[in-house]
Amino acid sequence: MADGDKVAGRTFAPSAEMTAGAHVDKARYDEMYAASVNDPEAFWAEEGKRLDWIEPYTKVKNTSFEFGNVSIKWYEDGTLNVAANCIDRHLETRADQTAIIFEPDEPDGEVQHISYRELHEKVCRFANVLLSQGIMRGDRVIIYLPMIPEAAYAMLACARIGAIHSVVFAGFSPDALANRINDCGAKAVITADTAPRGGKRTALKSNTDAALLHCSDKVRCLVVKHTGDQTTWIDGRDVDVKAMMETVAPDCPARPMNAEDPLFILYTSGSTGKPKGVVHSSGGYLVYAAMTQQYTFDYHDGDVFWCGADVGWVTGHTYILYGPLANGATTLMFEGVPTYPDASRFWQIIEKHKVTQFYTAPTAIRALMGQGTDFPARCDLSSLKVLGTVGEPINPEAWAWYDKNIGKGQLPIVDTWWQTETGGHMITPLPGATPTKPGSATLPFFGVQPVVLEAESGKVVEGNPAEGVLAIADSWPGQMRTVWGDHERFESTYFQQYKGYYFSGDGCRRDEDGYYWITGRVDDVINVSGHRMGTAEVESALVAHSKVAEAAVVGYPHEVKGQGIYAYVTLMNGVEPSDELRRELEGWVRTEIGPIAKPDLIQWAPGLPKTRSGKIMRRILRKIAENDYGSLGDTSTLADPSVVDDLVDNRMNRG
Ligand code: WTA
Repeated sequence: MADGDKVAGRTFAPSAEMTAGAHVDKARYDEMYAASVNDPEAFWAEEGKRLDWIEPYTKVKNTSFEFGNVSIKWYEDGTLNVAANCIDRHLETRADQTAIIFEPDEPDGEVQHISYRELHEKVCRFANVLLSQGIMRGDRVIIYLPMIPEAAYAMLACARIGAIHSVVFAGFSPDALANRINDCGAKAVITADTAPRGGKRTALKSNTDAALLHCSDKVRCLVVKHTGDQTTWIDGRDVDVKAMMETVAPDCPARPMNAEDPLFILYTSGSTGKPKGVVHSSGGYLVYAAMTQQYTFDYHDGDVFWCGADVGWVTGHTYILYGPLANGATTLMFEGVPTYPDASRFWQIIEKHKVTQFYTAPTAIRALMGQGTDFPARCDLSSLKVLGTVGEPINPEAWAWYDKNIGKGQLPIVDTWWQTETGGHMITPLPGATPTKPGSATLPFFGVQPVVLEAESGKVVEGNPAEGVLAIADSWPGQMRTVWGDHERFESTYFQQYKGYYFSGDGCRRDEDGYYWITGRVDDVINVSGHRMGTAEVESALVAHSKVAEAAVVGYPHEVKGQGIYAYVTLMNGVEPSDELRRELEGWVRTEIGPIAKPDLIQWAPGLPKTRSGKIMRRILRKIAENDYGSLGDTSTLADPSVVDDLVDNRMNRG
């Protein structure tokens, strides 16, 4: 029997030891959850006190999910500074405690232990560099950096002066970077010379130079000389951040900001069009980030918290930076990848820094699982107390491997469901409170009211078990506030289809015990190695190639990545398909979007299945990609049903 089969369907209760020391046990969860939904106003008024407010709030919740009138405000008359909450207020008691442990790409590289005192000085100096470049409250700043301490300094420096940061994952291409700079009208880009990752280097500065060719020439370019690699330098535009940090003052006042002032914009993929700028607030977001980091991971003083995500994603924002630092935690930042120099790297880091909570994605677990059990077996993992996952449902086989080889059958695994849009965990076990079932994100976090809706009618499915789409009935403080520059798109994406609810875009099932099981996206978003990708984005990159007439992209099950990218491509008249062209198109998508968007399989499609009105029937394409011909459904409404036979006959062999 496979290990996965042994754990599937079972329930794993928290150990007595875990429960005894935990912030929240089962009784406390029930009590707090009831309070949070029965009287959100009182509950969140109390939770807001986690932060230091300059001007305390008198109003707590002012939210409407009414389509046409959607407005989300929390703590709206309070003022605070996010950086001061993450740094300054800890100085009295923890100035010498490590705030950030930096583990470099090379295992023998220089580890840094950055204390709260040092963090304060670095962030102040960085903030003064920004001010010297004319960056002011409300200005947008793009951060395109590797996973280095300067990424944290840059984000917190923006927060300190009230500038709005937008971090762009360092794996994105110049075009993707340029689109984001232009969409938010950024005044500056902060980048580095090159980014070492897994022993290779990405030329971030030259990518930025390429991107800036498509942007206003007023955009400043702030460069962190990280590796010292040679780059071109444009005098008058480029600024050497590290050199300048030495010359500016070591202190910089934290600017009072309104709770509803945007803290950051983060671009994420949707089912249509270009990525949208998800806007998060200062006050509500930070309350929610701090609270979820503490409870979901049962974080205690003295713990060493490691979220293995990249700061380019929301997981990195909330659980490398803002949540842990708001709580005065020690948080680990890793520059590299799990498999460099070999597949023991994660486990060696846990041993080396005595990590207590470890948070990663199922795709990373599956990749490491493929390398065998020797790698973790060689390392001392006894410091660990809680394991977490995020990004997609964890399959029983990966759960069993994680549990057995990393948790030694002893540790709670928190499977956290949430989204860029939600700011923090929404459905998740709490380690001392919630019995877990492998594959289920279990129960809602405080203040979160999930509902299961019938996909077609939008009717609420009452009782258990239930199946449908997942929506949320009321607001929580970490919720996104709008789409940058396009509030209408915010409303139409999340509030139009099911009136009165926030629609997640995910399908789900609720079992007899009220546990939630996320079944994946119900829209045209796919989840590749835990990265969210709009199929429309990949399609528009493909059709931008001169030899491509049309393209349709769908996801298909992939053993390691969760989903792979399957592209059906119709070539221009007269263009011959070839393996060379296939490679050319792969390379093309890499440069248009980035390596993460490269199609795994490209099938030449002389025609695509379309309705008579010209709409591509993705349902059919998905089935073919999944190898599921039995259920192609009714193809008689197609303009030309014979194209389906051709596609089935020539389906790519996944090998
Ligand atoms: C998926 C990442 C199942 C889901 C924080 C969601 C999950 C999308 C889980 C958001 C989970 C995330 N179980 N599915 N524990 N966590 N997802 O915006 O489809 O990058 O809608 O945020 O990832 O991805 P995003």
